[in-house]
Amino acid sequence: MKISLKPSTQPFVSLGIACLLPILLSCALVTAVQAAAQVPAPDSPAIEAKAQALLAKLTLEQKIELLGGVDNMFTRPAPAIDLPRFKMSDASVGVRTWGPTTAYAGGVALAATWDKELAHRLGEGLGRDARARGVHFLLGPGVNIARSPLAGRNFEYFSEDPFLNAAMVIPYIEGVQSQGVIATVKHYALNNQEYNRHNVNVEVDERTMREIYLPAFEAAVTQAHVDAVMDSYNLVNGVHATQNEYLNLKVLKGEWGFQGILMSDWVATYDGVAAANNGLDLEMPSARFMTAEVLLAAVKDGKVKETTIDDKVLRLLRTELRYGFLDRPQLDLSDSTYSVADRAVALDGARESLTLLKNDGHLLPLDANKIKTIAVIGPDAWPAVTGGGGSSEAQAFEPVSILTGIANLAGPDAHILYARGLPSENEIFDKTLWSGVIKMETFLSKDFTGTPETAAIPKIADYQHSGRDAKSGVRQSIRYTARYKAAKAGKYLILAASPARSGDEFTVLTDGRTVLAQAYTEGRVPQAATLELAAGQTVNVIAEYLPHSPVASFGLGIAFEPELISEDAKKYAALADAVVLAVGFSPHTEGEGYDRTFALPWGQDALIEAVTAANPRTIVTLTAGGSLDTRRWLSKVPALLHTYYPGQEGGTAVAEVLFGKHNPEGKLPVSFDRSWEENPSAPYYYPIKGADTSLHVIEEGKPPVDYVIGQVKYEDRLLVGYRYWTTSGKHPLFPFGFGLSYTTFSFANLQVPATAASGSTVAVSFDVTNTGNVAGAEVAQLYVSDPSAKVSRPERELKGFEKVNLAPGETQHVTLSLDARAFSYWDETAHKWNIDPGKFVIRVGDSSENTPLHADLTLN
Ligand code: BGC
Repeated sequence: MKISLKPSTQPFVSLGIACLLPILLSCALVTAVQAAAQVPAPDSPAIEAKAQALLAKLTLEQKIELLGGVDNMFTRPAPAIDLPRFKMSDASVGVRTWGPTTAYAGGVALAATWDKELAHRLGEGLGRDARARGVHFLLGPGVNIARSPLAGRNFEYFSEDPFLNAAMVIPYIEGVQSQGVIATVKHYALNNQEYNRHNVNVEVDERTMREIYLPAFEAAVTQAHVDAVMDSYNLVNGVHATQNEYLNLKVLKGEWGFQGILMSDWVATYDGVAAANNGLDLEMPSARFMTAEVLLAAVKDGKVKETTIDDKVLRLLRTELRYGFLDRPQLDLSDSTYSVADRAVALDGARESLTLLKNDGHLLPLDANKIKTIAVIGPDAWPAVTGGGGSSEAQAFEPVSILTGIANLAGPDAHILYARGLPSENEIFDKTLWSGVIKMETFLSKDFTGTPETAAIPKIADYQHSGRDAKSGVRQSIRYTARYKAAKAGKYLILAASPARSGDEFTVLTDGRTVLAQAYTEGRVPQAATLELAAGQTVNVIAEYLPHSPVASFGLGIAFEPELISEDAKKYAALADAVVLAVGFSPHTEGEGYDRTFALPWGQDALIEAVTAANPRTIVTLTAGGSLDTRRWLSKVPALLHTYYPGQEGGTAVAEVLFGKHNPEGKLPVSFDRSWEENPSAPYYYPIKGADTSLHVIEEGKPPVDYVIGQVKYEDRLLVGYRYWTTSGKHPLFPFGFGLSYTTFSFANLQVPATAASGSTVAVSFDVTNTGNVAGAEVAQLYVSDPSAKVSRPERELKGFEKVNLAPGETQHVTLSLDARAFSYWDETAHKWNIDPGKFVIRVGDSSENTPLHADLTLN
């Protein structure tokens, strides 16, 4: 347990400090801890002198060696100056390097709490976990805007709104860094899709960047004083982020005055000289481009100045010296790798994030006295789904599933029936009744040319096949030809799976029509489709598979949709007093490196239909990083709870909310769309066909590679999320900021000055009252409109919020301050923030669409 600069206001933690700090703790340790917390400013003369002295002892080659990482998660050591290597760890939901950890309600779930104090506690928790593992740099938080629900890493990020992102990221970073650990805000910038993330060129205008995509990074640098930033994979306006002068030099290091370390994402550097000259300080995970070979020659030829190299080394040294990394061990054994204080933060996060979207007829909270039999059904009910997939995946200590949470809370007398409800992929592949045998042709080529080796196989469930010929090492291509006869008329699921993340490609055709395709690029993974077949109809199926991973693995199957749902699930649902149906995504279907589907994973729509038909008292819980397709079943479901990815304590929190032990208080940090096509980014989300260009990259000693650069034009501009909905006058399914409670709140007494000087800070105040019968929390949201602006602006923009906890009947007077930025837009001609004096409207309410209070304000 460490003493932080900002004492935590959480009683549990304070108590922990009091009780757990052993009286005999050595003074030396306390001193070390305090030193860690009090990080000197980047311009400290003492630090500068030390950094310069160390720099002076290094040769140019030794300096360049420091500009690349080593062993995937370390900076390089410099024995000449006794500089050890420093350790990094991913940490979007938990410190994952290495072994089990506390998995928090991170990213979108944290944003759904709208609780800045909690964000600080979470940051402190991550910092403590990092110190207990000797980690110097945490590779988070990620603050990219949730532009589309499809983006695979939205769950790791915060929200669709720059103000909310900034407000949450500041205390988060302060919490991490208060523990003597460097936070790394990522992925700078405009990494708003996973589809083809290395090769997407985001074309975006300056105003959109400044108003939507950069503010959270700006706040992290200028207000939270983050000491590391990670450049993203993609290109921005034609230039990769790692060598982007505008982003790195002009904005980050220039205007925002960033003094810390700018590192690349893992393998996101494409040109050593360009990266060196355009702001990149550290190439991770190792120097492939900013190598001694490249940069020594470049310095000699005058293409890179030695002072540019010195600046990078000084940034590394200064930051490491400021944190005391050279003076004290980072491994702090007064911290715990497993701690109840951290579990408390994880539980609070889960509790506060759960967002109740529908509660017809007050089905919730469930009355424990009346509900004797509960059916808990669905793929996300057990085991616990704590986070999405990819580099943020953290193995939680004792994650509490929804099933376990309900069983714990309901107690020993409760009657609980669990069914997954759906088979696994492998069961489908194994049980598909193909007509006759399947022809499998293996070609010794990557394009189905040449004479194949032919075999007859009974099923397509090929997991241990080598992707390359054992003798020649040549890449193979495999074609499966099969026939399937439908026994009954109706909907059939056709499902295919291979390791998308390893780059495997496949195409599946039925009667000559492509029904499934997985592209080589990191991309969308449509694994399932529905076939409408007549009784007795036979379809010819051809699957062409191009393994890329060394061990090929491909499965294909067809199942009659009504028979997908297990009989147990239907029986349990029918006899239960209430059903909790946990559906959604998982680390296998939503994660880094690919975009997810808007539709629920295969079979889940049918599962919801079958279960709600068996028992209308069905509560659906959703595990997802944002919105998803509810159209097939929403009208049949009385209660809907969005759980995002709630971390290791999610199951406990869900049970508490369902049984009314905790009043739901989460608010949507993203607009909930009906279809992904109605999301404002949809027409501009995927690369423009025909506009793609090739980038010829030559890496020393390797054959040249042509990357296809997909052009993605952000034509949706400022109209992201609720900015689009409120400006267009249309409505999403559930608006940004929305979330139900078991109590009701009212807003009154809005006080806004009639006039104020342009550029001054304006105080706005109002009352929030709990008008119901139970205690609860409300998030009062303040939106600003600028109807008299000379340029077109979104109809309203979030510029303040406050979370209030109120007892029944209690009123709280809330005051929020609006600074100059709250009224400003980015002036594209003058290239600066600007306020047009005139009329503004201040609105206050409980979502972007429900703002019962409003008042005009004139800025002179
Ligand atoms: C991710 C980063 C992560 C890094 C190290 C990359 O693939 O994009 O977010 O920090 O890997 O694991």
